[in-house]
Amino acid sequence: MEKIILTGDRPTGKLHLGHYVGSLRRRVELQNSGNYDKIFVMIADAQALTDNADNPEKIRQNIIEVALDYLSVGLDPAKTTIFIQSQVPELTELAFYYMNLVTVSRVQRNPTVKTEIKMRNFEASIPVGFFCYPVSQASDITAFKATTVPVGEDQEPMIELTREIVNRFNNVYGKTLVEPEILLPDNAACLRLPGTDGKAKMSKSLGNCIYLSDTAKEVAKKVKSMYTDPQHLNICDPGHLEGNCPFIYLDAFVRDEHFERYAPDYKNLQELKDHYTRGGLGDGTVKKLLINVLEEELAPIRERRHAFEQDIPAVFDMLRRGSEAAREVAAQTLAEVRRAMRINYFEDADLIAEQAKKFTAGK
Ligand code: TRP
Repeated sequence: MEKIILTGDRPTGKLHLGHYVGSLRRRVELQNSGNYDKIFVMIADAQALTDNADNPEKIRQNIIEVALDYLSVGLDPAKTTIFIQSQVPELTELAFYYMNLVTVSRVQRNPTVKTEIKMRNFEASIPVGFFCYPVSQASDITAFKATTVPVGEDQEPMIELTREIVNRFNNVYGKTLVEPEILLPDNAACLRLPGTDGKAKMSKSLGNCIYLSDTAKEVAKKVKSMYTDPQHLNICDPGHLEGNCPFIYLDAFVRDEHFERYAPDYKNLQELKDHYTRGGLGDGTVKKLLINVLEEELAPIRERRHAFEQDIPAVFDMLRRGSEAAREVAAQTLAEVRRAMRINYFEDADLIAEQAKKFTAGK
């Protein structure tokens, strides 16, 4: 069986370090591993509209930001099909059929949807489209017969629901769809990178993000104001690592070779952590190391972004070609789905003959 990846992001803002360690960095590795036959990366504008119905302009403006972020981290349109969800209308038709295979209470139990409902104050009135987005996400995945969905842990309930829909569909209509597997980030710190304020998640609305498009100066400023250990008042005091942002970020980014370059007194992160918890190591030193490490990773991304920004029409052209290619694949799956559901009336010669016979029998 072919190995196929599908994943994507809602275009509600520029992508940040949380996206980078949680998914983007991995996608580029997967793309370049040669282990996958096809890779699709989707800008999920239709899903973004499910809770931004009154602000389509926000989505419209951020399509290009996300596309630039993709290209600048190293997604390569020659290897990865990058496309826009709304430009593949086959996906909505699939979702409409899948909705019949899912109960309301099943979606209500989805912890990610629950959290989002609270966050958006939707408790009193949930838009139907928003409520159904997990089902539409099953269409995104199955339309491309994805075997592998690399996403953050918050997307786990969506993949689980997709697997249920696939099983239900295949049971009811015959084997047609492919059951996908989730591929979670492999480093615990990457499962969910906290915001610079120490809050559980990096998120635009909390204003605690470091963006891929931030300048070196902006990054340094944000690191310097990062939340550390509030009890670590004097350098000689023992420090605590738990919830300490610079250390969590180092977990996600630092490699042993960085120590030679930027902190030669230590061999690796463990030694640095030991010193910190013993006492005698100031936050400023840890932050300086982090700034250097981040800069090494972000500088080439920033440079590539700047280069792509010089030819925006070419980026839109890439998205158009990607969307056309994606549409061909989704149309093929949709045709198979219609055939399995036996709603392909006009290509069903048996049906037409049978009906004709029924109405002329005995005459
Ligand atoms: N729900 C994802 C997010 O919020 C975006 C998304 C839409 C997605 N469809 C998908 C991710 C299919 C993986 C597979 O970022």
